[in-house]
Amino acid sequence: MSEVENQEVNDGKRNFNIESKVFSKAVDECFAGVIITDARLEDNPIVYCNKAFCEMTGYNPEEIIGRNCRFLQGPESSRDIIASIRNAIEKAEPIETKLVNYRKNGQPFWNKLLVSPVFDRDGKPAYFIGIQMDVTHEVETSRRFEKIKNEWIYTVDAIDDLILLTTTEGKILRVNKAVADLFGRNFKDIIGCSILELFDQASCEELELDKLFEVSKAEFTLGKNYYQISNHCISVCNPCGRQNQENICKNCGIKTESRRVHVIRNITEEKELNLRLEWLEKAFEQALDCVVITDINGFVEQVNKAFTERTGWQSHEIRGVNLFEVHFDPRYSKLIPEILSKVSKGEVWSGEYVSRGRNGNRHYEEASISSIKDKDGKIRKLLHIQRDVTERKRLEAIAADVNLAENIAYVFSGIRHEIGNPINTIKTILTVMRNNLHQWPKEKTAEYIETCLGEVERIEYLLKALKTFSIYEDLEVKSLKLYPFMEDFLKFIEKDFNRRGIQLSFQAEERCKKMEIKADPRGLYQVLLNIISNAIDALEGIEIPTVKIKLQRSGNKGVISIIDNGCGMSEAELKNVFKPFYTTKPYGTGLGLAISKKIVAKMNGEISILSEKANGTTVSLSFDLAQPY
Ligand SMILES: Cc1cc2nc3c(=O)[nH]c(=O)nc-3n(C[C@H](O)[C@H](O)[C@H](O)COP(=O)(O)O)c2cc1C
Repeated sequence: MSEVENQEVNDGKRNFNIESKVFSKAVDECFAGVIITDARLEDNPIVYCNKAFCEMTGYNPEEIIGRNCRFLQGPESSRDIIASIRNAIEKAEPIETKLVNYRKNGQPFWNKLLVSPVFDRDGKPAYFIGIQMDVTHEVETSRRFEKIKNEWIYTVDAIDDLILLTTTEGKILRVNKAVADLFGRNFKDIIGCSILELFDQASCEELELDKLFEVSKAEFTLGKNYYQISNHCISVCNPCGRQNQENICKNCGIKTESRRVHVIRNITEEKELNLRLEWLEKAFEQALDCVVITDINGFVEQVNKAFTERTGWQSHEIRGVNLFEVHFDPRYSKLIPEILSKVSKGEVWSGEYVSRGRNGNRHYEEASISSIKDKDGKIRKLLHIQRDVTERKRLEAIAADVNLAENIAYVFSGIRHEIGNPINTIKTILTVMRNNLHQWPKEKTAEYIETCLGEVERIEYLLKALKTFSIYEDLEVKSLKLYPFMEDFLKFIEKDFNRRGIQLSFQAEERCKKMEIKADPRGLYQVLLNIISNAIDALEGIEIPTVKIKLQRSGNKGVISIIDNGCGMSEAELKNVFKPFYTTKPYGTGLGLAISKKIVAKMNGEISILSEKANGTTVSLSFDLAQPY
């Protein structure tokens, strides 16, 4: 401000005159607050204030004149700003600033303050002019705006999708944090770049890279990831930043500029999931086995092509229908409660049943039915997989028939042989006796009769053995404490073993001593006797004949092993060992092991033999455990 002429200071405090009336009126009526301070007086007091200043601060001129303007300050007034004003005044320099002041009623307001020195003829500051304006509204509006802007930036930065604002030519104006993170570059490096340059590694099957940012939607890959881009055109007013549909900004009245917003989403997971689903769908559809998904009660939700082809049910016809009711042959419906009880415990049911198609055609199915659980482990669906084994069953039945015919022929030839031989002998003896009836002395005849009776005995023995074959038809399978049973059995055979000089040992794992198996004690006794008697025969002529009996547990089976160090068997012998009438012993019937196998099978057990010529034999019997372990 230029030097003010015609100023008079009367008492140095209150009588400050401005000569020009026009000028005085203008300052008095000015809408901004105006004060003048006298720099030559102690503490630079106010010597003039206009109306606007009084209105703004709420004080009368009498309360203002003579005071330093700092009386307007309070707790929220910035100490730094006050220091900068003080500094400017000391240096007699103009200053423009903003700070919080307080009205007379204590209400704070933002004061935009301009202080300028007025110099005297010697160039020393004589007065200071202060112009003040209440800018509370502007400050608060701009603060609110700043807050909203920051909140918006943080929001956009928190989004995982990439967001880019570009010019229509593709020059990047703004990006969110996700863009900076993806490219490992900071905002400064990205802003101003071309979007094409930034995405130059991207590739899109259907489009040229430059078109990627122009079309409304497209997919592309970058590195190993899949992305989906959507591009939007907007019209922005440069000065106020507002978005406008029109070409002219409603706010500023000036022409708007076109911008593009590109939103890019990483869809890799979605894409991979879709691909996986596609393959699963294909596997489901193309599987040769029937695959059906039902709810937990068996109501059909989904079937594959194999199912519709085999049963004749179309997907839409069978959906919502109970699979157990329509698909199971009624003869097998008794299986349903067992299936449902098993799968409801999360176990897998597997077994065979006969199915019924739409037009009544029947198939043998080998099926497994299992539960499908949700993420919380709750059973939600059932998965039925069915394999058509009709053809296999037919072939098996043919094979079984052939086998049976073969076996019957074998058995008949055995009987023919075993009974035919003694009958032949008897016939020959009787013929010889008839021819010599009168010449032979009584003693010789008696000798021949004895031989005949011997042969009859042999036939009787054979018939007895055949009886044993059917004696064990009705076995009573029950829980059997194996260890004490074996101890009894050993006591029974011990004496015979001692007499024959065979060493007998019995070993049982500790955990087997309380083991209970499912068996019929009478049947098991017979089987053990057969095996032991075979072992005794095999030990004939062995230097230190030994038989070891062991009890073991294998999974949910109890196993009895009888191990001898006898003559063993060749592979060929081993192959025929369970055939009736097959025997390597001169006086055996060849029925012992055949009977044993039948008895063990009746008890749901298994018998297996390991043997090597001259190296002993191990016979193992395994039975289901009575209690689960
Ligand atoms: C002409 C003039 C007008 C001023 N107006 C104000 C004002 O409106 N509000 C304010 O807080 N300070 C104002 N000041 C500043 C104070 O009067 C004072 O100079 C400031 O508080 C720094 O000095 P201090 O540290 O001694 O208080 C003005 C100063 C001058 C010279």
